[in-house]
Amino acid sequence: MTYVKCGDIICQVIKEKEEKATMKKQIEQLKKEKNAVILAHYYAPDEVQQIADYIGDSFYLAKAAKNSDADIILFCGVSFMGESAKILNPEKKVLMPDLTADCAMAHMVKQGIIDEMRAKYEDLAVVCYINSTAELKSKSDVCVTSSNAVKIVKALPNKNIFFIPDKNLGAFVAEQVPEKNIILNDGCCPIHAKIEKEHVFAEKAKHPKAQILTHPECEKEILDISDYIGSTADIIKYAKDSDCGEFIICTEDGVNFKLTTDNPEKKFYFPNPRPCCKDMKLNTLENILSVLEKEDRVVEVDEELRKKALIPLERMLEIAK
Ligand code: 13P
Ligand code: SF4
Repeated sequence: MTYVKCGDIICQVIKEKEEKATMKKQIEQLKKEKNAVILAHYYAPDEVQQIADYIGDSFYLAKAAKNSDADIILFCGVSFMGESAKILNPEKKVLMPDLTADCAMAHMVKQGIIDEMRAKYEDLAVVCYINSTAELKSKSDVCVTSSNAVKIVKALPNKNIFFIPDKNLGAFVAEQVPEKNIILNDGCCPIHAKIEKEHVFAEKAKHPKAQILTHPECEKEILDISDYIGSTADIIKYAKDSDCGEFIICTEDGVNFKLTTDNPEKKFYFPNPRPCCKDMKLNTLENILSVLEKEDRVVEVDEELRKKALIPLERMLEIAK
């Protein structure tokens, strides 16, 4: 931030607003010049969602990446999202504002466990949440996102399912698809796992009429007290369609931008401490502008690995169609 010597905090705010407006114009210009498209997840900061061409949940963004005819895809999310875009578009340049933006859960599968499970169960499908590394995808039979996991697991011919890496989404799917034997893996999102029942009840005590809307990455104790469970896009749709005017939102706080933009008359509360994925917040206007100028933060996936990881991703897009 640039400080102005008027000694007045209002001057700083005005100056900062002007700088952001200038950056937004420069980004717009570079996007046109380079035929670039900006994809942003609902957890990205507000200012990033404001300039994105496509904003959505993981499933929507995977489809948007696949259908894009831009030369450059600039992905404002975390590494598994940029990687998935590259896997689906090998001929395109995929950039990320900060290549260190990562999803902790994407790595939470013990070395060798997939082979162990395949040896143990003859009829096993390895179902891989898209929040995973390309390496894990390459060893899996099908990918899923939080918005299509139930549909895809139901559609599989296999009885035995090893669900990686998220035990919470896996347990949610297991409840919805009791006819399958779903084996859970010991991984979870550290941000959603920190939401505790007491934090949600504290909000409910303040706002007794509010409905509780929850992402399935939360622990079961949160799912059990919720009025609705769904992906970020599902939560946003539910809030818009609902007659209720107040909601307690159990997911990362970036969704607040779309929720409040779509529903200025409704109230949205978050558990305290407010869930925040620091990696998602590495997507800033400054980083977007500099990566569009320099084209230096390029997402690369080894070609052999890419071909293997493409199979479960394409299978997901096909089954979920
Ligand atoms: P969505 O499938 O709702 O985009 O969730 C992605 C994610 O990272 C949740 O933490
Ligand atoms: Fe990964 Fe959790 Fe961040 Fe989503 S909120 S990107 S699951 S760490």
